[in-house]
Order: sequence, then C-alpha cells, then structure tokens
Amino acid sequence: MRFRLTLLLACSAASGLAAQAAGKFPPDSLVNVKVIPRGTPLTQVIGTMRNYTSALGARCQYCHVGREGLPLEEFDFASDEKRTKLVARQMMQMVQEINRRLDTMPTSDSAGLQVTCGTCHRGLNRPVPLSALMEQVASASGADSAVRAYKALRERYYGGDTYNFKEPSLNIAAFRLGRASRFAEAFALLDLNETLFPRSSGMYVFRGNIKLMQGDTLAAAKAYREAVRLDPANEEAKGRLRNIGQQP
Ligand code: HEC
Ligand code: HEC
Repeated sequence: MRFRLTLLLACSAASGLAAQAAGKFPPDSLVNVKVIPRGTPLTQVIGTMRNYTSALGARCQYCHVGREGLPLEEFDFASDEKRTKLVARQMMQMVQEINRRLDTMPTSDSAGLQVTCGTCHRGLNRPVPLSALMEQVASASGADSAVRAYKALRERYYGGDTYNFKEPSLNIAAFRLGRASRFAEAFALLDLNETLFPRSSGMYVFRGNIKLMQGDTLAAAKAYREAVRLDPANEEAKGRLRNIGQQP
C-alpha cells in the first residue's frame, strides 16, 4: 500500500498533470482542484463550468487546454497551463470572499443576494463598461473606428445587460477624450450620440464643456444656450453660462 502510494506520487510528479489528458468526459474524479472541494460531484462541477462559459461569453478552451472541434475527452482539464485558468481560480476565491462578507451584512432580506461571475462579467471575459471601451477604441484607432465599433456592438448586444446603450455612455467617453485633448474623437462620439438621442439638453452641456477644454468660449456659450433652449429648466447649463460671464 505504502509502495503504491509512493509510486503514484512519483508518477504524477514525473508526468505532471497531463496524466488526465485523453481520458474520458466527464472524468471519474477531480484531479487538480484548489478551490472546488474534492468531494464535489462531477455533474455539479460541470454545471458550474457551464455557468462560467455563459457568464464570460467564452468556451471551455478559453481556460482549458483543448481546441475548438476537439471532443471534450481530448481536453486536459487538470492542466494549469493557461493564464486565464489561473485568473479564474483567483476570481473564484474572490467571489467566495465577497459572498462570505455579504452573509454578514445586516440586510433586510434574510435570503440575501449572492454575487456570481455574471454580476460583473455580463457575458464578457473582461467586463469593461461601454464608456471605457469607446474611449479606448477612439484613442487607439480614431473616430471612424470608434463609431463603427459602437454600431457593431449595438447591433449585437442591444437589449441585453452586457453594455449600457443609454445616453450617458457616449457622453462620458467623449468627456474623457476631451480631457485627453482628443477633440475630433470626442465630437464624433457626441454627433453619433445625437443621432440616437436627438434633442437632449444634457448632451449640449457636454458639448459646451468640451468646447471649453478646447479653449473655444464662444462655441461653448452657444452649446450651453442650446441646452437651455431645449430645456429651460437646465440649471447646470445656466450655471456654466454665468461662469463664463454670459447671460443665460
Ligand atoms: C473562466 C475559466 C473557465 C472556463 C470557461 C471553464 N473552466 Fe473548467 N475550470 C476552471 C478552473 C479555474 C478550474 C479549477 C478549479 C479549482 O481549482 O478548484 C476548472 C476545473 C475544471 C475541471 C476539473 C479538472 C480537474 O482538475 O479535475 C473540469 C472537468 C472542468 N473544469 C471542465 C470544464 C468544462 C467542460 C468547461 C466548458 C463547459 C469549462 N471547464 C470551462 C476554469 C474554467
Ligand atoms: C467583482 C467583479 C467580478 C466578479 C464577481 C468576477 N470577476 Fe472576473 N474579472 C473582473 C475584472 C474587473 C476583470 C479584469 C481584470 C483586468 O483588468 O485584467 C476580470 C477578469 C477575469 C478574467 C481574465 C480576463 C482576461 O482575459 O484577462 C477571468 C478569466 C475571469 N475574470 C473569470 C472570472 C470568473 C470565473 C468569475 C466567477 C468565479 C469572475 N471572474 C468573477 C471582475 C470580476
């Protein structure tokens, strides 16, 4: 018995964790789990894994060694070769920690809410908000690419909770681009936003703010006045006009 154990250890050390490759699916037992308790039934583990794929909008091979089209028997699920699997393991621990802490909250509902991968990821492997994504694309590839990217994302994701297609996303992206002196990109995004949300008073305040960053006080005043014309109750626009010495 003792000999067999030593042999087993020696074998797994020599062949590494690749021992499970080319096995069967679902496997008979768990090999290299550090967060999932060892005794967890395999069907439950696979269920958890399927949840990861939908939460992250990714396939098994995003984290595991294996290829599209290859049967799952050929995957090496125990291998820790992929960076994404290592990150996922950290994320699993993070989620456990969050939920442990949530359990100690004095919430009104004793059932409470649990955090899952989907709470943040919303179908994306990197849960970047639309405003940040548009800012990145515009800075890296320019206005035309950003406008094309936005339209493609809207086509694909509109109506889901992956990206927020309401008015603020492009306003915020434009504002940040303005702060980085990327004025052409900022105004291109505002123009696009205006086609989607015409007659928005708030958008003209953003326009004015970016014109000010550009040093164009006259154009800023014009934009703030347009904001007041569209919504006479827009106090922010009136305040900005006063700040630059103009009559609201
Ligand atoms: C987001 C990354 C991610 C995705 C996607 C993912 N997994 Fe996993 N998987 C992991 C991590 C991390 C572990 C190790 C968990 C631990 O250490 O407790 C694991 C462990 C496993 C194991 C146990 C391996 C062993 O050591 O015995 C199996 C089987 C498995 N996954 C199958 C799948 C299948 C099938 C899919 C696709 C439906 C999938 N996984 C998708 C991250 C992922
Ligand atoms: C509290 C929010 C949050 C939760 C919950 C969360 N994640 Fe993440 N995850 C992030 C953020 C933010 C990043 C991006 C980190 C970075 O900038 O690289 C990320 C990145 C990742 C990545 C790496 C993406 C890449 O390509 O670099 C993986 C894999 C991942 N998460 C898996 C998971 C899994 C699996 C779960 C559930 C067990 C989970 N995450 C739960 C916020 C979260």
